[in-house]
Amino acid sequence: MRVLGIETSCDETGIAVFEGGRGLLAQAVYSQTELHARYGGVVPELASRDHIRKLLPLIRQVLAEAELEATSIGGVAYTAGPGLAGALLVGASFGRSLAWAWGVPAIGVHHMEGHLLAPMLEDPAPAFPFVALLVSGGHTQLVEVTAVGVYRVLGESLDDAAGEAFDKTAKILGLSYPGGPALAKLAEQGVADRYRFPRPMVDRPGLDFSFSGLKTHTMNALREELQARDDPEQTRADVARAFEEAVVDTLLIKCRRAVRQVGVRTLVLAGGVSANRRLRARMDEMMQAEGGRAFYPRPHLCTDNGAMIAFAGHQRLAAGQAEPLAFSVRPRWPMQSLPSLDAGR
Ligand code: KG4
Ligand code: ZN
Repeated sequence: MRVLGIETSCDETGIAVFEGGRGLLAQAVYSQTELHARYGGVVPELASRDHIRKLLPLIRQVLAEAELEATSIGGVAYTAGPGLAGALLVGASFGRSLAWAWGVPAIGVHHMEGHLLAPMLEDPAPAFPFVALLVSGGHTQLVEVTAVGVYRVLGESLDDAAGEAFDKTAKILGLSYPGGPALAKLAEQGVADRYRFPRPMVDRPGLDFSFSGLKTHTMNALREELQARDDPEQTRADVARAFEEAVVDTLLIKCRRAVRQVGVRTLVLAGGVSANRRLRARMDEMMQAEGGRAFYPRPHLCTDNGAMIAFAGHQRLAAGQAEPLAFSVRPRWPMQSLPSLDAGR
């Protein structure tokens, strides 16, 4: 089955076509970063309006790149949540209408399930069961994954998500939105171990996270060190490095605890922060030492994209699941409430 995927949950319009047995046929992502940069964050109403502008041209572009006629699409998958309500409604109403016009089934995909399954677009793909670390702008979760749709959340962030902590700390460091990748770049210039910031909640049992204290610690350290030192650029880089190392180390300690607790040898990293090079390198080392392996998508499939929605939607449509003509979106949506693939059979 050939599935068109539509992602509009936040500030990226992502379109892709995935075909069972063949893989990803074409994809395109339009990022609204510039539109929101002057506001320092995503403005929901502007995001919705821009998705409306970009959807149709992007779908045409992707179909043309794959040399496909619209009539050859066998199903449509759109992000139905979690995300910004207006942005979700644009993709959902568009996707549902296209499917109706084409006379094919449609499915609303859980955005985090999309992220979680994205590493399966790679070769080799991870095999079930595994532990997944989902690290995006809105979520930080450790999930035990037994099959598609069989998820048990082992732990999650009690306050800021890891990506959110990167973005807010980047702002403190004077970097523009979205700050995660910019902070990572600055950290590469920093001296390792110049500072050691706290690893939040690692000495407590359990698998939850908390990053807001680390953000405050970083802000205070930056202020003090900028006063104490006379090389502001290097000071900023050293502070960025210490912050990144603290986040990566915290995530690593919890991931190791989770794979040991569940008793698996496969760790999957997904979501925007999993594009972070330091995180990937450290997780590779850690999983090798555990006698296992870490899997993650290529960098542009870590951040929001249509390919992961096309792929997750394909799994469900191929198993016979589909939405009725009336659709809904869910700005908040616990992933544990998803049906497994056998649910519709
Ligand atoms: O998954 P994603 O694209 O969108 C959400 O679903 O939230 O994740 C975006 C987040 C942002 O917070 C961004 O700053 C962060 O991922 N991010 C990074 C890197 N690339 C993206 N954080 C750290 N290092 C990176 N290289
Ligand atoms: Zn995302």
